Amino acid sequence: MTKPYSQACENNRGPILSVLKQAFANSNAVLEIGSGTGQHAVYFAKHLEHLQWFTSDQVQYHEGIQAWIDEARLFNLHPPSELKIGQNAIPDIEADAVFTANTTHIMQPDEARQMMIQVDEMLPASGVFCQYGPFIENGRFNSQSNDDFHHRLIAQGYGGYQDIVTLKSWVSRLTLRHIHTMPANNLLLEWVKV
Ligand SMILES: C[S@@+](CC[C@H](N)C(=O)[O-])C[C@H]1O[C@@H](n2cnc3c(N)ncnc32)[C@H](O)[C@@H]1O
Repeated sequence: MTKPYSQACENNRGPILSVLKQAFANSNAVLEIGSGTGQHAVYFAKHLEHLQWFTSDQVQYHEGIQAWIDEARLFNLHPPSELKIGQNAIPDIEADAVFTANTTHIMQPDEARQMMIQVDEMLPASGVFCQYGPFIENGRFNSQSNDDFHHRLIAQGYGGYQDIVTLKSWVSRLTLRHIHTMPANNLLLEWVKV
């Protein structure tokens, strides 16, 4: 098959990698939620060789993700598990880190809530969760374009942006260690389990 392609992934992968190098420095195995095209997985597994990188997504994405994995032939990159938060249990992987990009605002609010709760439960103590995307901060959008996009998403039936305050209210042992400011008005939320 022709590999699926996302220009956004090409644009944001470098800045995200800079954060992951530090955030996942002491991690061993990463579960990626919502791997999408599979581009991020290939890039991060290639540049973070100390990690085992486990992809996941809804089944309709698997063929594309697998096409990227097959081409990359990386020893530390693993085939997609089926995971639609709200429908499937978290895959049975001994992950001590979780990564997700541009999923929280696509999910329905209850799916986003369940993702936070499930990541909180599955990670061991000191486990790290890196959550990239656009978010609301204390009720405020950080740009007019984000405000507009949020309302377009809602109109199209997606869940829309979540407020970081709300995300915090859904977890018990995850602590927000750092909010990284990223290009294009995105953020990378670095959570650690205490
Ligand atoms: C905008 S794409 C982002 C894909 C990729 N992470 C990226 O950054 O390019 C949104 C992704 O969220 C996934 N997604 C949406 N709802 C989900 C859910 N309930 N559970 C898991 N993944 C979900 C979609 O399948 C899709 O892969």
